[in-house]
Amino acid sequence: MAAARQVLCLWALLGVPRVRCEPIRYSVAEEGESGSVVADVAEDVGLAPAELSARHARIVSPAGRHHFRFERGTGRLVLAERLDREQMCGRSPTCTLAFELLLVDPLHIVPVEVSVKDINDHSPVFPDERVTFKIPERGDQGSRFPLRAAQDLDVGSNDIQAYSIIPENEFFAVSFRSQIDPKSGEIRVMISLDFETTQKYEFSVRAVDGGGLSSMCKVVVEVLDVNDNAPEVVISSFGSPLPENAEIGTVVALFAVSDQDSGVNGEISCALEDQLSFSLRSDYKNYYELVTISTLDREERAQHIVVVTAADAGSPPLTTTHTFTVDISDVNDNAPIFNQTSYTMFVHENNVPALLVGAVNATDRDAGSNAKVSYSLVPAHPAEQEPCSCVSVNSENGHVFVLRPLDYEQLKQLDVVVSAADAGSPALSSNVTVRLMVVDENDNAPLVLHPAQDSSPPSSEVVPAWAEAGDLVGKVVAVDADSGQNSWLSYELLKATEPGLFAVGAQSGEVRLRRPLTDRDTVKQKLIVLQSPAAEHEDSSLTTYLIVSLVFVSLLFLVSAVAFVACKVCKRKDLSSGHVLYGASNVQSYVADGAASGTLPHAYCYELSLTTGSGNSEFKFLKPILPSLTMQHCSTEPGAQFNGF
Ligand SMILES: *[C@@H]1O[C@H](CO)[C@@H](O)[C@H](O)[C@H]1NC(C)=O
Ligand SMILES: *[C@@H]1O[C@H](CO)[C@@H](O)[C@H](O)[C@H]1NC(C)=O
Ligand SMILES: *[C@@H]1O[C@H](CO)[C@@H](O)[C@H](O)[C@H]1NC(C)=O
Repeated sequence: MAAARQVLCLWALLGVPRVRCEPIRYSVAEEGESGSVVADVAEDVGLAPAELSARHARIVSPAGRHHFRFERGTGRLVLAERLDREQMCGRSPTCTLAFELLLVDPLHIVPVEVSVKDINDHSPVFPDERVTFKIPERGDQGSRFPLRAAQDLDVGSNDIQAYSIIPENEFFAVSFRSQIDPKSGEIRVMISLDFETTQKYEFSVRAVDGGGLSSMCKVVVEVLDVNDNAPEVVISSFGSPLPENAEIGTVVALFAVSDQDSGVNGEISCALEDQLSFSLRSDYKNYYELVTISTLDREERAQHIVVVTAADAGSPPLTTTHTFTVDISDVNDNAPIFNQTSYTMFVHENNVPALLVGAVNATDRDAGSNAKVSYSLVPAHPAEQEPCSCVSVNSENGHVFVLRPLDYEQLKQLDVVVSAADAGSPALSSNVTVRLMVVDENDNAPLVLHPAQDSSPPSSEVVPAWAEAGDLVGKVVAVDADSGQNSWLSYELLKATEPGLFAVGAQSGEVRLRRPLTDRDTVKQKLIVLQSPAAEHEDSSLTTYLIVSLVFVSLLFLVSAVAFVACKVCKRKDLSSGHVLYGASNVQSYVADGAASGTLPHAYCYELSLTTGSGNSEFKFLKPILPSLTMQHCSTEPGAQFNGF
């Protein structure tokens, strides 16, 4: 068109003097009504409308004719049709229509340019009406998500001027880098999102053009759950301490577990660390019971540490642990136990009153008052009344006392039962036997049985004049009420008319001749025999002096003596057949000797007892079976003297 104009211009310059090269410029807003006036051309050309009509003024270029019409009567240029700038020129910033107005007679060509002005006849348009973003929670702050930009067909100030988020919120912002890429924008996350607070955001992005037209794009942000919450354990009840006799299945604690995450991130499983006594039971949803699965024993274990671990199924899983400290309280389930199965205590006879002789000790595995042990004496047999009043036990410390002096000769041993009871309710107890052994003291003087000690007549022995050295002339027989060493006796010759004539067996008490009798020897001989305890520590007060009178008889007395012996033998036979018991042959021989030699009066009978278990002992102990001979008798008359002549 420009080339055509130049041709016309050149032609006009060459052939027609009235040619105009500079175009007349007009502008018209788009979208004007058909027939509306664009410009008054007659005036601009400087011709009256009638002249323009006479010169057949008309638009020559077809493009111009299409859009405009020239009214010859008025000389004005009007729109032939509605103009749409966007249709004609697109997004081009300028939109110009050029054409020529032709006059004839003379030929005159007038170039005309009409600039079509934009009006804001289009709204911005988003390519998507609605967009959805899935954004994981706890993402980096400031992360961006692309959003396709809105378009506006208008140009210039009628184009899109601004975007905004409606309603405004602190979490998101929108930005469009229009210089670089006008078609792309983005939504920025301003604050880290938290699924547990809000799972979904809905808002709109609004685009506004310069003329105030706008449009919206709906944005939905779905927050994606991330396993960012550990399970929580909430204790509803917890019972501690737990009595040790709690039955199996006792509920110790009730708790609930929860997790704020969703899906697998919120699926919880609970477990106990290896535990033999406790287990978890879940009856309802996320509620768990901690129950006992075995019997408890405080004496074995007074405290249980139970660790519960709750884990979700996220990847990686998050866990929470809770520790239950279960104390076991005591129940009186243990009786006191003595540290020995039996006790043996010793007391020397004639003890001082209230003598401490030993202690029993019992311990109780329970705790507190269930373990507080007190001691008491109980009857050995339920039928019995009070236990022996001579023994007592301290209820606090188990000390055993002998309350009054004991006499070995009356009581050699005593069994008492001590009970140890705890202070539980009901109380438990156990019994133990305490054997009290009375230890003999040398408190009894020997009792001389022969010669008889009652005053008159003093015992005398008859010795034949022809007796030889070594012949038995008599025998001192004594017993001691004490036992053991305390009853061992010894004899010695203390004084004699003729000291060289007699010897006394230290242990046997036998008086024998040391040499044959001679005529010079006195007919009556008097001997004092010292008989004393053989114990190491001799008690001189217990020594007995015996006086033995011996009469030597002449042949003249022989007959009567023989008769006397014969009589004795007869009586002895009577005795042995009925009443006398001999336990050992050697003793029997002693007695027989004595009897044979007429030294044992028939009035005495003997019972044999041996020293403690030793058959070989040289010492023999004879006990009277005559009840009338009390020990006191002996001890009150130590060293009784007999004066037979
Ligand atoms: C038992 O207890 C008593 C008193 O405390 C003590 O004397 C004795 O030695 C104990 N016996 C043992 C076997 O421990
Ligand atoms: C009993 O025995 C226990 C342990 O053997 C000891 O601790 C306690 O002191 C004893 N009690 C008495 C009274 O001796
Ligand atoms: C202890 O002995 C008493 C009296 O004999 C009796 O009643 C009690 O049952 C005994 N206790 C135990 C634990 O044997």
